[in-house]
Amino acid sequence: MLKYKIVYSSRTGNTGFLATAIYQGLLERSKDIEELTGNTRWDDAQTYIVGFWTDRGSCSSDTKEFLQKLSGKNVLLFGTCGFGPDQEYYHKIEEQVKQFIPADCRYLGCFICQGKMPMTVREKYQLMLADKKKKSLAEKMIHNFDRALLHPNQKDCVNAVSFVRQSVGHMLASTLV
Ligand SMILES: Cc1cc2nc3c(=O)[nH]c(=O)nc-3n(C[C@H](O)[C@H](O)[C@H](O)COP(=O)(O)O)c2cc1C
Repeated sequence: MLKYKIVYSSRTGNTGFLATAIYQGLLERSKDIEELTGNTRWDDAQTYIVGFWTDRGSCSSDTKEFLQKLSGKNVLLFGTCGFGPDQEYYHKIEEQVKQFIPADCRYLGCFICQGKMPMTVREKYQLMLADKKKKSLAEKMIHNFDRALLHPNQKDCVNAVSFVRQSVGHMLASTLV
């Protein structure tokens, strides 16, 4: 049985980018990384580090279904979302996603950062600018979109790796007690 397995869902590559950094930063030989498919095993590692992209305030359905299959595992989450940087919003997403982890698993925490969105989203916001009632909201959305364009970046990767190392460290320390 593997010690660590990184399983991630990524539509446009942001979460995959973080997943690779986490894999490389995990100081452990017994590890694997896999993009989530219908055939991904949920029983071949002690600790699952599960990555998701945010879909309407939660994770996408493939991640939800995968999390629900886990049993007796240590589970760490990481994700990317379009809106941010806003810890309160990230916390809400975490609350939504962690509820899919079965009670017999040990939840270790969640790391979230912004991830860029497709240019078609910006084009929609730009069309909204013409509507006086929506102009102010559109401006805010465009500002957020442009900020997200630069994420995930190297700093996000460093933060994600450090979060995973710390969480794994705490887990190992408490197991030894
Ligand atoms: C259908 C859809 C729904 C989304 N819903 C949200 C959302 O509710 N909140 C948010 O912050 N970002 C949302 N996003 C943005 C993505 O979560 C974000 O760009 C993420 O980094 C994509 O990750 P990926 O490149 O790994 O697929 C949504 C994107 C799509 C395509």
